[in-house]
Amino acid sequence: MKFVVHTVGDLRPVSEAIKKKTEAYKIICLDGDLGAGKTTLVKDLGEALGISDHISSPTFSIINEYEDADRKPVYHFDFYRLKDEEEALDIGIEEYLYSGNLCIIEWASMFPGLIPPKHLEININLVGERNREITLVEHG
Ligand SMILES: Nc1ncnc2c1ncn2[C@@H]1O[C@H](COP(=O)(O)OP(=O)(O)OP(=O)(O)O)[C@@H](O)[C@H]1O
Ligand SMILES: [Mg+2]
Repeated sequence: MKFVVHTVGDLRPVSEAIKKKTEAYKIICLDGDLGAGKTTLVKDLGEALGISDHISSPTFSIINEYEDADRKPVYHFDFYRLKDEEEALDIGIEEYLYSGNLCIIEWASMFPGLIPPKHLEININLVGERNREITLVEHG
């Protein structure tokens, strides 16, 4: 599945498509260069999911926790700040990843060894001057 977006306002159909897939896929992996728009997409997806908490890239904690419209937890990770896999395992990442709750991971490809086989891969690529191509690929 592929989308081309020009502005932040174009993200909603992408978020709705991802939301649909979260019924089957609880692990959402987001990749794309620095500034590609990963956090921006998480914010828009959060709105689509009815998350009213403030969404921002996890800085100190590596994990941010929100609640969706049904008050179910949603976990937001940013692997960019992880030193190594061990650091993630030390904070108990597997408990989050295998909790059955939605997990959204920025820079997931930095530590592929941590990612469960069944996941939704999302790549954001800049195309041309100001368009972004967003692709969704199902794994497992
Ligand atoms: N779909 C979009 N359309 C237009 N501008 C966008 C879009 N997505 C993101 N931007 C802009 O690009 C900038 C970087 O976005 P964002 O912080 O989401 O990137 P990121 O991939 O999370 O970066 P990082 O790798 O540093 O975490 C922001 O200023 C944002 O407004
Ligand atoms: Mg980010």
